[in-house]
Amino acid sequence: MGKKVTKAIFPVAGMGTRFLPATKSVPKEIMTLVDRPLVQYAIDEAREAGIKEFIFVTSRGKGALEDYFDNSPILEQELRKKGKDELLETLKATNMESGAIAYIRQHKALGLGHAVWCAKRLIGNEPFAVILPDDVIAAETSCLKQMVEAYEETGGNMVAAMEVPPEKASAYGVLDPKNDMGSVIEAKGMVEKPAPEDAPSNLAVIGRYILAPSVMRNLNQKRQGAGGEIQLTDAIAEDIDQGVPVFGFRFKGKRYDCGSKAGFLQATVAFALERPDLRDELMQYLQDVTSSSNAAQ
Ligand code: G1P
Repeated sequence: MGKKVTKAIFPVAGMGTRFLPATKSVPKEIMTLVDRPLVQYAIDEAREAGIKEFIFVTSRGKGALEDYFDNSPILEQELRKKGKDELLETLKATNMESGAIAYIRQHKALGLGHAVWCAKRLIGNEPFAVILPDDVIAAETSCLKQMVEAYEETGGNMVAAMEVPPEKASAYGVLDPKNDMGSVIEAKGMVEKPAPEDAPSNLAVIGRYILAPSVMRNLNQKRQGAGGEIQLTDAIAEDIDQGVPVFGFRFKGKRYDCGSKAGFLQATVAFALERPDLRDELMQYLQDVTSSSNAAQ
């Protein structure tokens, strides 16, 4: 039912103030989980889901992102000369085909909805994905791929969703469920960062979306929502009234909130523990520090 999704928008214009002073000169999305920048995880996930065109919505100071996805002939030449084939292979994942990647500047920080709207001309009249690189999801099948498969059946709009403790719901976009079918939940509404007493459920929206072109049209209205910002959540919710359904998707996997320091550290440990070259040493270290901190108590 849903059309093929081949374009993805990566909103990366945020200032990353929670990671100052590091983000004074390094874009947050270039910060590394083990040895890969956050944005690489997002790109790999999109590729696995069949995305062919990658659109970054950036802002001042994000130049390092463009360099990251560019070829680096001198580095490659050096590695080749030294016979470092494994490293050359690692670099391959960072190279983008010519024309597959586009950068658009969001000139003013007017909110996530506005950032997505900035990519309007490149999206045209097609469904599109949105990936927020701050949300890193460890999963056997990538979260976006799981969603693409479900979306083929449902069409409409689809957002990744996850139950959160009720007291945390006001940090998220929250779904108002109409029909809970298990992994897919049809929504009758969506609210961005509701006050705790107004949260319609504890089903939070996580940063993966497959959206109908009508959402871009809704964003044209540039209505201000929560926090005075143009909210993507509001533009998606408007679609429900216009007869385009919205589905939450309970993905299989573990989500890390890499927009927070604690989440970033947890993701770093979790991904390092998955690596055969790091696992044993790190595990030993974690055992040592936890037992010595327990002993100190
Ligand atoms: C954004 C969205 C929110 C969503 C969240 C997921 O909020 O506006 O609806 O629940 O991402 O991480 P932000 O975290 O940018 O405040």
